[in-house]
Amino acid sequence: MSIIVNESRKLFLLSTETTSYGFEVSSAGALLHLYWGTRLDRPEDLPYGEQQQFNPFQQPEKKPLVNQEYPASGGYFYEEPCLKVMFANGCRDAKLFYRRHTIEHRDGMETLTVILEEEVYPMQVALFYRLYDGLDVLDRWAEITNTGAEPISLEDVQSAALYFPGAVDCRFSHLSGKWAGEYQLERHMMTQSKTVVESRHGISGPDSCPWFAVDERGEATEDRGRVWAGSLHWSGNWKIVGEIDRARQPRVTLGINDFDFGWKLRSGETFSAPRVTAVYSEEGFGGASRKFHRYLRNRWMPQDKVHQFNPISYNSWAVFEFDIDEQQQMQLAEKAAKIGIELFIMDDGWFGARDSDRAGLGDWTPSKTKFPRGLDPLIQRVNELGMSFGLWVEPEAVNEDSDLFRRHPEWTLRAENKPITMWRNQYVLNFAREDVCDYAWSYLEDLLTHHNIAYLKWDMNRYLCEPGWPERPIDEQREVWTRYVHNVHKLFYRIQERFPNVLLENCAGGGSRIDLAMSACSDLVNPSDNGDPLDNLKIAEGYSQVFLPRTEHRRIGDCPNFINGRTTPLMFRRNVSEMFSFGIGGNLLTASDADLAALRECIDDFKRTRHLTQHGEFHRLHSIYKGPYGAYEFVAEDGSEAVVFALGQAMQYFRPLARIRLRGLQPSALYQINGKGAWSGRALMEIGIEPDLRGDFDSAKFHITMTTH
Ligand code: DGJ
Repeated sequence: MSIIVNESRKLFLLSTETTSYGFEVSSAGALLHLYWGTRLDRPEDLPYGEQQQFNPFQQPEKKPLVNQEYPASGGYFYEEPCLKVMFANGCRDAKLFYRRHTIEHRDGMETLTVILEEEVYPMQVALFYRLYDGLDVLDRWAEITNTGAEPISLEDVQSAALYFPGAVDCRFSHLSGKWAGEYQLERHMMTQSKTVVESRHGISGPDSCPWFAVDERGEATEDRGRVWAGSLHWSGNWKIVGEIDRARQPRVTLGINDFDFGWKLRSGETFSAPRVTAVYSEEGFGGASRKFHRYLRNRWMPQDKVHQFNPISYNSWAVFEFDIDEQQQMQLAEKAAKIGIELFIMDDGWFGARDSDRAGLGDWTPSKTKFPRGLDPLIQRVNELGMSFGLWVEPEAVNEDSDLFRRHPEWTLRAENKPITMWRNQYVLNFAREDVCDYAWSYLEDLLTHHNIAYLKWDMNRYLCEPGWPERPIDEQREVWTRYVHNVHKLFYRIQERFPNVLLENCAGGGSRIDLAMSACSDLVNPSDNGDPLDNLKIAEGYSQVFLPRTEHRRIGDCPNFINGRTTPLMFRRNVSEMFSFGIGGNLLTASDADLAALRECIDDFKRTRHLTQHGEFHRLHSIYKGPYGAYEFVAEDGSEAVVFALGQAMQYFRPLARIRLRGLQPSALYQINGKGAWSGRALMEIGIEPDLRGDFDSAKFHITMTTH
């Protein structure tokens, strides 16, 4: 990585292993974007940012504003801005000019900070650009500081504007979705207009996910073509705007959603916009994904735990829901231990009067009827059986029928003098309030300190609405959206710091709050409440555009699947689940000895290749969307070993299936497939393996091991 500054042109060229990103200070002092693409080593090769041609009907003077690195709303800038403010006297025009920059090297990172200032009013904007040793990504974010005496109202603060100079006829990709159908890939060609993808729910999903990709002419594939992608580190309301602007220039802005946003920035205060991680790939969408994956694995996720195996789990929620008690959970634990489970998770229903979703949420003491002796007898039994213990909580919500709500009705989010919307029979606690967070921390710390809990599943089962905060001055009430998210992150970090060995699962009614900010403070996610293996493959193709498959906590469940009623063979469910963080979720009490033996075999088989599925590089070889089968590979970084899953949907006609061509092997080394034969890496990558799939939901697993260099 390197940051080169050409002082005569005031030009900055930031380079990672394969990529460069460049911008310069214009003659008028504005910061103009120049370049993002293949690595260049000579800054002087970059074109000037100022246009040579000037159209007087398009702008009043020859001072370009359209390609600014961080445009504020002011003057004749009409595109999507990064910053919109109102100064104390009502002035709503801002223009930012370069003042100085610094470069810092620390802990394998190089950070360029560029300071901009408003031309008249006392406001400073710091733009941060960070590169990492060995990673092909660029992180960007911005901080706004009030350097004057009067408050400034922030109305819109985006994290970055990104440009794709030289890219023609761009296609925009994003992820849409809904509960039980998260992470669906959508693509369309861009025209002179805007595409807005966003969340207004207070949590980052599931209708959309804060990620986008742009490719040229819609021609990029999984392996080939130029792709620019970015993802936002924000878990609340966010907005990504892709546009082709008046100058026919493709651009994207990303940041906190300006919908109902507000922040009062007092004298001397700084507001930080969340980080954006940006990647450029010439190896198509797959190449872009692997750059995100390496960033997550080697830098961004909790480092001590991401290099260990996630434990094989059991959770009885899908079968018993709230109908649990000590005796039944102990019986399940006995069976779970016999089949090789490593982590026994007790889900919702263990506390207060929680016999259904109508009562008890907020009262975090064990149910007197279901767990009269408390949690410890069950935890001890689970530990004696050789498993660790995990527990479910939902700190951000409360049932009306709970002691907590009776004590603190004022702790809920609400609009003054209006009824509060009940959703899944619960209200949202106002996590922007420090006293609400203190209460959550007090019982979470107590649970984790006094019980041997190795895993915490943090759930959040509804969206935010009526985002009122009547206790605060009117001009500060909109801060609730942002402060809520800051405080959720703070609590996740606090748990990680105080209990570094506890694994944290990020769940929000399935995968409704998954983003890079949550990835930094949690270890696994529940990607969806949908356990159907075919739907899971489609969800995984979208999810893995940016996130690591190993963080998806998936369980083999019983059939038919409760979401879509589909029945699939156990082998298909097993081969799909093996790609992720593996678990079992079926009814072990009614399972026959033969059923249990089959589940044991699933677990043993998963263990044989989990070093690859948990730590290998991921390749989407054939998309299940294109049918009739999907194929996915995990390959060791040195190419010495790989595992490939071929997952058939519905075979048709009499025709040979396309062969599976592997990636990432050593071309001249020899390999065995499932312990047999000898093939060169080149043959496996160029000719490939024939998937012999028949009928419906047939599947195969190929374990590729190197025998000779
Ligand atoms: C929604 C989650 O996604 C489920 O896994 C389960 O934990 C339920 N909530 C419990 O209420």
